Formats: sequence, structure tokens, C-alpha cells
Amino acid sequence: MVNTHRKLILNIYCSAIILPQICICSQFTSSSNDQYNENPGVFPVATNGEQFPWRELRLPTKVIPLHYDLFVHPNLTSLDFVASEKIEVFVQDTTQFIILHSHGLEIMNATLQSEEDLRYKKSGEKLTVLSYPAHQQIALLVPEKLMADLRYSVAIDFQAKLADGFKGFYKSTYRTLGGETRTIAVTDFEPTHARMAFPCFDEPLFKANFSIKIRRESRHIALSNMPKVRTIEHEGGLLEDHFETTVKMSTYLVAYIVCDFASVSGTASSGVKVSIYASPDKWSQTHYALEASLKLLDFYENYFNIHYPLPKLDLVAIPDFESGAMENWGLVTYRETSLLFDPKTSSTSDKLWVTKVIAHELAHQWFGNLVTMEWWNDIWLNEGFATYMELISVNVTYPELQFDNIFLNNCFEVIKSDSLNSSRPVSKQAETPTQIQEMFDAISYEKGACLLNMLKDFLSEEKFKKGIIHYLKKFSYRNAKNDDLWSSLSNSCLESDFTSGGFCYSDSKTTSNTLAFLEENVEVKDIMTTWTLQKGIPLVVVEQEGRLLKLRQERFLNGVFRDDPEWGALQERYLWHIPVTYSTSSSNAIHRYLLTSKTDTLYLPEKTSWVKLNVDSNGYYIVHYEAHGWDQLIAVLNQNHTLLRPKDRIGLIHDAFQLVSAGRLTLDKALDLTHYLQHETSIPALLQGLDYLESFYHTMDRRNISDITENLKRYLLQYFKPVIDMQSWSDEGSVWDRRLRSSLLKLACYLNYAPCIRKATELFSQWMESSGKLNIPTDVLKIVYSVGAQTTEGWNYLLEQYGLSLSGAEKNKILYALSTSKHQEKLIKLIDLGMEGKVIKTQDLASLLYVIARNPKGQQLAWNFVKENWTHLLERFELSSFPMRKIISGTTSHFSSKDELQEVKLFFESLQTQGSYLEIFQIVLETISKNIKWLEKNLPTLRNWLLISI
Ligand code: BES
Ligand code: ZN
Repeated sequence: MVNTHRKLILNIYCSAIILPQICICSQFTSSSNDQYNENPGVFPVATNGEQFPWRELRLPTKVIPLHYDLFVHPNLTSLDFVASEKIEVFVQDTTQFIILHSHGLEIMNATLQSEEDLRYKKSGEKLTVLSYPAHQQIALLVPEKLMADLRYSVAIDFQAKLADGFKGFYKSTYRTLGGETRTIAVTDFEPTHARMAFPCFDEPLFKANFSIKIRRESRHIALSNMPKVRTIEHEGGLLEDHFETTVKMSTYLVAYIVCDFASVSGTASSGVKVSIYASPDKWSQTHYALEASLKLLDFYENYFNIHYPLPKLDLVAIPDFESGAMENWGLVTYRETSLLFDPKTSSTSDKLWVTKVIAHELAHQWFGNLVTMEWWNDIWLNEGFATYMELISVNVTYPELQFDNIFLNNCFEVIKSDSLNSSRPVSKQAETPTQIQEMFDAISYEKGACLLNMLKDFLSEEKFKKGIIHYLKKFSYRNAKNDDLWSSLSNSCLESDFTSGGFCYSDSKTTSNTLAFLEENVEVKDIMTTWTLQKGIPLVVVEQEGRLLKLRQERFLNGVFRDDPEWGALQERYLWHIPVTYSTSSSNAIHRYLLTSKTDTLYLPEKTSWVKLNVDSNGYYIVHYEAHGWDQLIAVLNQNHTLLRPKDRIGLIHDAFQLVSAGRLTLDKALDLTHYLQHETSIPALLQGLDYLESFYHTMDRRNISDITENLKRYLLQYFKPVIDMQSWSDEGSVWDRRLRSSLLKLACYLNYAPCIRKATELFSQWMESSGKLNIPTDVLKIVYSVGAQTTEGWNYLLEQYGLSLSGAEKNKILYALSTSKHQEKLIKLIDLGMEGKVIKTQDLASLLYVIARNPKGQQLAWNFVKENWTHLLERFELSSFPMRKIISGTTSHFSSKDELQEVKLFFESLQTQGSYLEIFQIVLETISKNIKWLEKNLPTLRNWLLISI
């Protein structure tokens, strides 16, 4: 009965949004009817056998929360907590019950009181509590109907064990230098886990104020979103911290921690106190985070022209953390490796990561915390924006990191999955907690960010910035949806613009963006819905005929060829509004044009020998040059690659190899394009090309295609020898010099290049002889460890050091090194340790399986392990969590044979019959099919090309 009903509800929504006009999903679907009385037959059954009065996953809107008084007392010895809360609610419409979220909590008592409703004036009218665990809801039944427009106060006493995993109010442990294990208690709520810590209206739209009190022992401290106002001493020496009331916010942003951490603090220009917390022995690794967070907070406050509204901001390194970080308002929590920086063992890539994560979480303090999406279908408004703001803020605060290159790479990463048919639109209906968790993927984060970057380029940075500030100010302390963003961006007139009918027009002489070239008003929404409600990525096919530039758009599909029978159907009804930009051989100017139809023809201003579309790779589309287009560009690269901008070179390399996967360009042509790389002066471009060549090597190595593996190795070592030999084993140079060094030496040692192995072995021996005290340059540390891990003695020594090291950055490098062993019994030992969760923490299990699966000697082992231990993995992580999805795709998506595809398919089917289904299953299967097809088509070409080239 219950199930049929749920299906019915879900079917109301359209599952695949093909064209923007077809379905714009509604935001708040709860019915305001008192369904209980109308049709009692179809209601679910509560745990006590009575009828549960609410059947939908989303809460009714008749009762809304205004304020929570929350008291929590965790016991870090018995590992449980007792708590109580008083929720002040406002009744919008008469009702007989209040529905709240609650998951795994034991409710001891619930009462109701009201100053405004005389019937409930005397305190403590006891309520009947019903529970419906399938929807993680409880119902509080009131003896007499609550009346509209009145306020009531609900008091609830409850208790639970501190959770085992990483969600709700959970325990985390760490080891001190002295070898003692200590426990802390910490929260992590997003998206739907506040309900594990206290009964609440656990949906983003129900914003309220929170006054939090935490009872603790004197050896601990308590932290929460707001600063502490007072501490009260209780008998038995227990202390109780009272925190200031929060601003209006969603439940998923509430946080509190009881721990014994140490901190460093500083003050931002605006007077906000910023502190970094870590376990006492890691205190010395907190300084970079303080510097970065102060800089970034200053940046955001200036950029948005909106003060960070809280008096303090704490950033805390949590020893057990499932994802990378979480933006709780005023109390941001991080995995240790996302916050701590150890100058002795953290590399420049580690610094980039820490900076990125801090920039991301601080951006959320505005995008997400101040303005929140109405519902999880638009989580990209949080995550896409935070990811986009990383680019804006880091490029200004740490220009030397050249973060725009990292950003571009992330766009390329998401294009890989977005060009599969199993991709999804950026905004997508999500109802169940599993569906909601699945929304936290590269489409929300990276595609969201790349689209915003494209729009910024289209509108001009100035206008875009103005629009988003307007959006942030207008929706502060409230919720927003896609359309709100689009209208803020449409109406963001600049002073130099003139307005008509509520829209602005740019003076084409003063701005160089596309809008300026359009005579009529452009509705941002018309353009952007083609990107957010349609899945996939367009391909712009261009053909130059004299001064004519013929353009055509298609849907770009990786692994589906034009002569495949399904091609036609997969193209139907897709149309984007594409901000096309191009430069030509005859002028450096950026030409702009909005392609809104399937085909169009442009007239070039002058005669030109070549055109390059998608200037600086700012657009989210792939370009194919027909006729002699590619040959001309390859010729330019070979003659003088600097005639093209570095990001255009990167884009050409990327697009060429993507077109190979789509069967539009032959592999030898794409490989020919990389030939100019020995003269490439831009490190990011060189790394882009190297990356493809390296990935081919890995594929061949995994598949044991020894002739190609050998020849590729020879080619790589021959071709890149001069630049490999130039590398020093040091930490000198700019950030990208250092990244190049890490990549090249890693490749060289991986390919067994004798000078590399020799040097790494020498450094490793010295390190062992110094009992791990010798400082090895951080950028080559991972390489030295990996070479050292190839002997049993080295491997064992590294494992020992792993257990002792206090640096997460170093531990990651050691774990990677250990995973590159050729001995299966060693790899099995690592997995056992990961499952045990002591030496190798459970939080690192997903990365461990991922790196073992990258090792040709470990790929089958990791996959077999996942199949055989599926239920054990599910005891540690939720099905749709980040780690679980990483484990699934990490141990399967590199497969490239029909047998492997069949095996993976059967396994996924068996899970489906047990009721587990994830979007990632389809993505993985399609990826493997694509790999198979790639090999079928390109293996002979690669073989021949190598024979000619070496
Ligand atoms: N809001 C997320 C944390 C999160 C992730 C909550 C998944 C629920 C599900 C946070 O802002 C985030 O995006 N963290 C990233 C790091 C970021 C730098 C990309 C993460 O955890 O990977
Ligand atoms: Zn985020």
C-alpha cells in the first residue's frame, strides 16, 4: 500500500527533462490539505500499528519553525547523548498534527505549550508521538487542533548513541603523539542528517534561528555555529556552554563539536575572528589555513559587498570525515588533508587543494548559507557557485597558483561524463535521501561552475558580478531557485547601460561582451535553461569557406558514432543557445555570436587562413573543424604555437581527443597534433597533452598489450627525455614548474627510466637510514616513496611510518606508494587494514580501493573485493555517499573488455534486484562500453602511429 502510493507521487514528476519547455519542476510540493481526514485509507502505518497521518516525503507547510532551543549533552565515555529541544512554531493553517523529521532518535517525551492559544497556555500538554521510519518522520498528535496564525512551542526530550559512521552526531577518534586514543563528537548534516541529531524540519526551505547549549566535561571544549556567550558550571564539575542565537538558517548548516583541540586565530579586516582548530599535536600544521582563510574572507566580503554576518568563523580539521569539507555556518568542518598544511611533507598540489577547499567553503557562507536553494533539485546553486567562486577568489588571492588552469581541467573532467547518454540535467528532481545525495556530483559542481564561467564571459565579468550581488542581496536569509538567479542576472544593468522596459542595453562602444553586439534584449533565462534543463554538451561543427563561416550544432556523444543506429534518436530535440566566440589568423580580437539555431552562417570581417572557436576555452562546448580546419590549426601549432593563446592550445588538444572518442577525428590526427608539444612553452598545455599519452600507456599496460605498451614507453621517454632530464629533485620554481616536475618524474620512474629510479632509490635509502628524519623535497616525495615501496623492506618500513606519521599529506603519499606494490599479498594486507579501520582509517578506504584499482596488479583484486564485500562496505558508507560512488566507479570504469562489462553488469543487476539502484551504475556501464569501442577502433591506428613515430 505504502509503496504503490510512493510510486504514484514520484511519477508526477517528469524523470527526464529533454527540452526546457517541457518540464520546469515545481519547488514545494507538499499539499496543504489535511489529508488525514480526507482519505484515511491510504496512509502509512506507524511503528506502533496506528495510522501515520502524513504520507509524503516532504513535510507539510501548515506548521513552520521559527526558533529552536537545543540542548545537547554528549558523553564521550559511554558514546551516547541525551538532549532536549524547544521548537517555536508558527501555524499557517489549522492542523491536528505536527510532522517532523527524526531518524534513529529515541523520543522520551513531547509536550506542547502556547502563550497565544489559551487552551495550551498551561505548560506541558503531553503529545502522542507516532513514528514512520521509512520516511524518517515523526508525527506529534495534538489533543485539540492548532489554530492558524498562532505560535506554539513544542518541547521534546530525546537521546541516541553517537553515530558510528560520518553522519548526524558522530564520534571520531585520533591518536596522540604519546600513543593515546582520544574521542571527540562532531556533527555532519548535509543534506538530510540533521534529523539524526535532533527532531527538526529538515528541509532547506524551513529556515529558523537556533540557540544551542552544550554540556561537556572540563577537559573538553565545545564549538558551535556562533560564539559562546557564557559557561555555566553544574554539579559534578560538568560545564555547559551557551552559544549566541544564530541568524536565520537551514537545519543542514547547524553544527557543534565537543573536542580537546588547539587553535590559532587571527582577525579579518572586517573584525571577524577566524580560528583554525586541529588536534593538539597537529597545531603546527594550521598556519597556512589561517593565512588563506583570512585572505579569502577579506576577498569575499569585498567582492560581494556583503559582510560575513557572524562574529566568528572557525575552521576545524576532523580526524574522521567522509567528504572533503562541510560549510556549516561559522563552523566549517574539514577532512584533515583539506585544511592542514605541513611544510615538510605537503606538496604544491596539496597547497592547491587546501586553498581550493577553503575558498569553496567560504564561498558557501554566501552562496548556500545566506542564500539557499529552495530544494535539492537546484543544489547546483550552492555547489556550482561555490566551485565557480573558487576560480574568482583564488585567482585574485593566490595568482601564483594559476588556478584557472585547474578550473579548466575540471571542466574537461565533467565533459567526460556529461557526454554519455547516462548523464543528467544540472537541475533534476530529487525526492528520496538517496536521490538527494546523488545530486552531489560533478554535474552540480563542475558543470554548474563551468556554465557560470561561460555566462560570465558572455555577459562580461562586471555585469555578471553585479547580477550575482543583486541575487545575494535580494534573497539574503531566504531561498532561491534557478529563475531567481536568471532574473537577477537579466536585470543587472551597469551604469553605462541604458534601460528600456525593465531591461538593460549595453553601449557597444564601451563593452566587449556578446550582449553588446546584440541589438535586442537577451533574456538570460532563455539561454541558460538550455544548459541547465537539458543534459549533455553540444558540439559546434565549423566549416570555413572563404569568408563564410558555416556553423552547425549537434549533441556531442562520447562513444556513439554517427553511423551507429542509435545516433539519430539520441540527437532529437536537443538545442542549445551557444555563446560562440572565435579569433582568426588575421586579428587577435575576440568575435562573439550567439548560436540559437541548428545551423547558421557568419561572414568573417576579413580574409583569414584559420579560425579558432571557443576562445580561451570559456565555452561549455566542443568544436570540430571540418574540411581543412584541423590541418590548418595543426600547422599553426607546429609553425608557431604562440599565435594561439595557451588555453586555446589546451582546448585544441582536449577537443581533438574527445572527437576521437566520438569517431569524428582519427587518432593519428589527434596524435599528430601533440607533436608540437616538444616546443610547448605553457606548462598546463604540455601537461594536458602528456596526460592523454600517459592515459593511453595505462590502458595498454592494464590490458597487457605488450607491444604497444613497450613502444609507447619508448616514445614517451624518447620524446620527453630532454624535459625529463632537465628536472631537478627539489622544490624550486613556480607552482607550475613544480607540478611539471612531479608529473614528469612520476612518469619517468613509472616507466622505469633508469636515472629516475636511481635517484629515487638513493633518496629513499637515505630517508630510511635517517629513520624518516631526512626532509625529501615535497614534490618528489610520493615518487621516492613509490620507488621505495617496490622492495619488501621498503614497503614494510613505509607501512610502519604510515602508522606513526602525524601528517595527513604524508600519509596519503605513503598510502599511494604502498598501493603501487606488484605483490598481491601486500595489496590484500592494505585492504584488510582499510576494512579494520585502525591503522588505515575507514575515511580513507575509498581512496585506497581507488588507487589499488589503478595498479594493473591490483585492478582485479579491488573489483573482486568490492563484489564479495558489498554488504560490509554498506555497513560503513551509505549507498549513495561520495565514498561508495567513488568505490563503484573507481574499481570498474577503467575496464575495457566485453567480459568485464558483462561481469560488472551482472553484479549491478544483482544489486538492483536487492533494491539498490544508483545513477552511477549506468554511467559505469556506458563508460566501459565506450572504452571497448575506443580500443576496437583505435588500437591498430595507435600501433601503426607508434611504429612510424619512434
Ligand atoms: N556541501 C559540501 C559537502 C557535502 C558533500 C555535503 C556531499 C553533502 C554531500 C561541501 O561544500 C563540498 O562541496 N565539499 C567538497 C569539497 C569541495 C572543495 C569540492 C567535498 O567534500 O568533496
Ligand atoms: Zn560545496
